[in-house]
Amino acid sequence: MKKTARFSISIDTDLLKRFDSFIKKHKYNNRSEAFRDIIRDKLIQEEWETDEVETVGTLTIIYNHHQHHLQDSLTSHQHQHHDAVISTMHVHLDHDNCLEVMVIKGNAKKIRSFANELISTKGVKHGKLVMTSSGENL
Ligand code: NI
Repeated sequence: MKKTARFSISIDTDLLKRFDSFIKKHKYNNRSEAFRDIIRDKLIQEEWETDEVETVGTLTIIYNHHQHHLQDSLTSHQHQHHDAVISTMHVHLDHDNCLEVMVIKGNAKKIRSFANELISTKGVKHGKLVMTSSGENL
């Protein structure tokens, strides 16, 4: 089990008031839990700015499967990056629209590039990369 350290922070009262409102709004039980999450979020953000770090993300895209060649193009991109795509879930949202969620693992630079390729493919209506972490260093 990891050791816990305690430390105090000096902060102006107005900023603390805003932080406490944030904590309430986001349903945190206490300041420590909120602060830990903020630190982790910043560390993950930094990991993603370091190109060679191995990391994990999910890419969600929405597209119309009737669009000519689109499905072939998306599948081809995923095959080109088969080492990075761990899992894919496909949902037929309605008669026309499909939602796909891909779990991607690899170095930050490669994942970003792969996500940008898919999101910018003609016919993809919306795409979003959620940059998270393997959890190993948190
Ligand atoms: Ni579908």
